[in-house]
Amino acid sequence: MTTVIKNGTVVTADLTYKADVKVDGGKIIEIGPDLSGDEILDASGCYVMPGGIDPHTHLEMPFMGTYSSDDFESGTQAALAGGTTMTVDFCLPDPGQGLVDAIKRWDNKSGLAACDYSFHMAITWWGEQVFNDMETVVKDHGITTFKHFMAYKGALMVNDDEMFASFQRCAELGALPLVHAENGDVVADLQAKLLAEGNNGPEAHAYSRPPAVEGEATNRAIMIADMAGVPLYVVHVSCEESHEAIRRAKMQGKRVWGEPLIQHLTLDESEYFDKDWDHAARRVMSPPFRNKQHQDSLWAGLASGTLSCVATDHCAFTTDQKRYGVGDFTKIPNGTGGLEDRLPMLWTYGVSTGRITPNEFVAVTSTNIAKILNCYPQKGAILVGADADLVVLDPEKSKTITAASQVSAIDYNVFEGKEVKGLPRFVLTRGKVAVMDGELKAEPGHGKFVKREPVNPVNKALSTWKELTAPRKVERTGIPASGV
Ligand code: URP
Ligand code: ZN
Ligand code: ZN
Ligand code: ZN
Repeated sequence: MTTVIKNGTVVTADLTYKADVKVDGGKIIEIGPDLSGDEILDASGCYVMPGGIDPHTHLEMPFMGTYSSDDFESGTQAALAGGTTMTVDFCLPDPGQGLVDAIKRWDNKSGLAACDYSFHMAITWWGEQVFNDMETVVKDHGITTFKHFMAYKGALMVNDDEMFASFQRCAELGALPLVHAENGDVVADLQAKLLAEGNNGPEAHAYSRPPAVEGEATNRAIMIADMAGVPLYVVHVSCEESHEAIRRAKMQGKRVWGEPLIQHLTLDESEYFDKDWDHAARRVMSPPFRNKQHQDSLWAGLASGTLSCVATDHCAFTTDQKRYGVGDFTKIPNGTGGLEDRLPMLWTYGVSTGRITPNEFVAVTSTNIAKILNCYPQKGAILVGADADLVVLDPEKSKTITAASQVSAIDYNVFEGKEVKGLPRFVLTRGKVAVMDGELKAEPGHGKFVKREPVNPVNKALSTWKELTAPRKVERTGIPASGV
C-alpha cells in the first residue's frame, strides 16, 4: 500500500519547496507534484520534515539506585507523539562487565520500541577486555559512538588516562567519542562541602556544579581528543564556558560538536529556588539549568552553527524516585524528561521567536545528528530511498503542556503550563502512521535497531590530516660527533 502526503511544504535542512511525498515499503519512493496513492494524508498548511532524531536518551536506565521510569515502550511512544522518529540510547556496562554483555541487556529492553533506535556504548571502566570489545561493538554491532562520563565519581566516571586510551582506540576504529563534560573530582568536593554546611536541598545541586566545572572538563576533553586525533561530541552543553571551549576549538579547525538540550534552552536556574521541594527536585539534572546569559549563548550557538544538535537527555524519574534525596541532594536521581516536547518547544521558542529558521530547526533536530552519527541519508533526509520517518508539523496547532495529557510514564512534566504552537498532524515511522490527525497510533515493537558504519567522512579527513602532520624523524646528512 502506498501513502501520499499531499499539499504540504517540504522543509529540509537546506531547502523549502511545495511537493507531495510518496511512501511505500517504509521508504520514500517519490517526491513531486500531484502524486496519487492508496492512502492520502492531507498536509495543507503544514510543513513536511524529516522526523526528529534524539541523540541522547536514557530509557529504563539503572542509575543512582533506581531505574529511569520511561522504558523503550513508553519512551518511544512519547517520542513519536512529539514528532521524534528515532532515539539513541546509551548501553551502560557495569564495572568489569564486557561491552557485548551490556548490548545484550539493552537488546532485551528495547523489544517494544515503537520507533527506530540506535545505541551509544558507554566506557565505564578500562581494561584489555574493553579495548578488544570496542572493535566487536563497532564491526559486529553497528555501534560507533562511545560515551565517557567525566563526572559521577565512584560510579560512571573515567579518568583522563582511561579517556585518552579510549579516544585513541576510537581513532583507530573510526568511531566517535562522546563526553559528559563536568569535572567529577571538583563536583564531589563541592557536594561534600555544601552538605557539611547544611545545604542539603535541591538548590545545592546547582551550586555543586557551577559553569566552571563544565567549561574546564569540556576544554580538557577537547584537548585530549585533539592529542588522540579523533573528533569529539560534547553532550548536554549547558553554559557559555563549555560553548566557548567548543567555539574556540572549531575556530582552530578541531572537529568538535556540541549538543544543547531543550531543557537548558528554555528553563533556568530559578526552578531550583522554588519553595516546593518536589518542584525543585524534579528539575535536578546534570549539568543543572543555568541563567539567561547562558541560555542566550546556547541560542546563539544554534543560530551560528557553533552548536549542532538539540537533544533531551530524556531520563525520567517519578516524584517518588526524586524523594530518595530528601535531606541529601546528592541522592536525588539526576535526570529530566523531554522526548515528547523537544520539537514543539524548539519550534515555539526557536522558530516562532525568529531565533532559528525552519531549515535550521530541521538541521538541529534531525539532519545534523544523522550526519554526525553516520546514518544519513537513511535518516534525517527527505530523499528518494530514505526511510519514511516524517513529521507533518501544523504551525497553527497549539496546546498547553501538562503531565495529565502526556504519554511519558512519569507524574509531572518540567514544561508544565508552557503554551506551544507547532504540533504534529501526522508522524510516520518507516512509512507507518504513528500520529494520525494529532492522535497517537504508535505500535510497540515496530521500532528497529539502526546499525551504523564507522569512519564517517570527518573521521577520515581528520585521520588523513593527522597522518600528514604526524611527528617524523628528520633524516640528517651530517651528524656531529657526540660531545664530551
Ligand atoms: O542528569 C542527567 N543528565 N542524567 C542522565 C545521565 C547523564 O548524565 O546524562
Ligand atoms: Zn550526562
Ligand atoms: Zn511546582
Ligand atoms: Zn545523558
